Amino acid sequence: MPTLRVIYYSADRDAASWVPGLQAALPGASVQLWEPGAPPADYAVVWKPPQQLLDEQTQLKALFNTGAGVDALMNLRLPVGVPLIRLDDAGMSVQMAEYVCHAIIRYFREFEGYAVDMGHGQWSFRKPRSRLDFPVGILGLGVLGERVAKAVAQFDFPVNGWSQSPKSIAGVQSFHGAAQLGSFLAASRFLVCLLPLTPDTENLLNADRLAQLRPGGYVINVARGAHVVDADLIAALDRGHLAGATLDVFRVEPLPSEHPFWVHPKITLTPHTSARTLRSESIAQIAFKIGALVRGDAVAGCVDPVRGY
Ligand code: NAP
Ligand code: GLV
Repeated sequence: MPTLRVIYYSADRDAASWVPGLQAALPGASVQLWEPGAPPADYAVVWKPPQQLLDEQTQLKALFNTGAGVDALMNLRLPVGVPLIRLDDAGMSVQMAEYVCHAIIRYFREFEGYAVDMGHGQWSFRKPRSRLDFPVGILGLGVLGERVAKAVAQFDFPVNGWSQSPKSIAGVQSFHGAAQLGSFLAASRFLVCLLPLTPDTENLLNADRLAQLRPGGYVINVARGAHVVDADLIAALDRGHLAGATLDVFRVEPLPSEHPFWVHPKITLTPHTSARTLRSESIAQIAFKIGALVRGDAVAGCVDPVRGY
């Protein structure tokens, strides 16, 4: 049997460690860093590849994305009939649950205010809030959204979830489809975005939708920057309809230094770090799936090119 050929390419991930890691996990294969003109491979493991890689590699049996979101790939001409397989959790959902619970609890329990008070030597209490007044709405109940919804529900917040298809998740009220988005927003005060970026979800969080959230709403965007209309978010914060936002993702990353988000007093920023791709978990998952595909078995995490996620 000929040696399996695997190529690796990343626009920004550390090739020096991924290539030997993949090679160790696939001892019978030859794993190479992709370069223009590379010989044809059976499998490609990529993050934000150039169109040239896809155009040149005409014998691929599958394309693996080293992230959960495939929006960057959806902007390219993908090889027809070649499965595109995204990371399926691979250690991301627990990170996302930590991040979102932290952001919710930090705001709900007013820990930032306490830090300021204590910094001024001030021993003072804030009135406890009722979590019934802070229902959490999660946009997207997929691999990450479901884990986040369950984690938030553990803290006894009312939890609403919105997805394309209806869901049955303990402790989560399911809303689905465009027709139920308004009721979902009206029932939520915290709004967590965990949708894939597709033509249907781009700019979803605009002035109209943000206005439908409960007064004193709080937005947490951990999906993609283009889900939110930046100017509309700032306007909703400035007029007081929204109380705050925690943003991990941006239309342009790194966030340009002149962007108003940097200095907005109601916005907390992190640098696209809510759920990192974990190298060893991801390599193990991809190597396992390559083995399954070679045996002719089905694998989870295949992207539907029509849905775009
Ligand atoms: P997933 O498993 O594909 O789940 C996507 C969810 O969104 C599904 O529940 C889906 O509904 C729902 N959805 C998609 N389009 C919709 C629409 N038009 N209307 C209503 N619901 C819709 O994705 P995932 O693994 O949870 O990841 C979600 C996103 O998180 C990724 O695409 C990526 O952009 C982002 N992400 C960010 C980071 C970070 O560090 N910030 C890390 C990883 C991922 P159905 O279940 O009904 O199909
Ligand atoms: C990160 O943003 C991912 O999509 O995995």
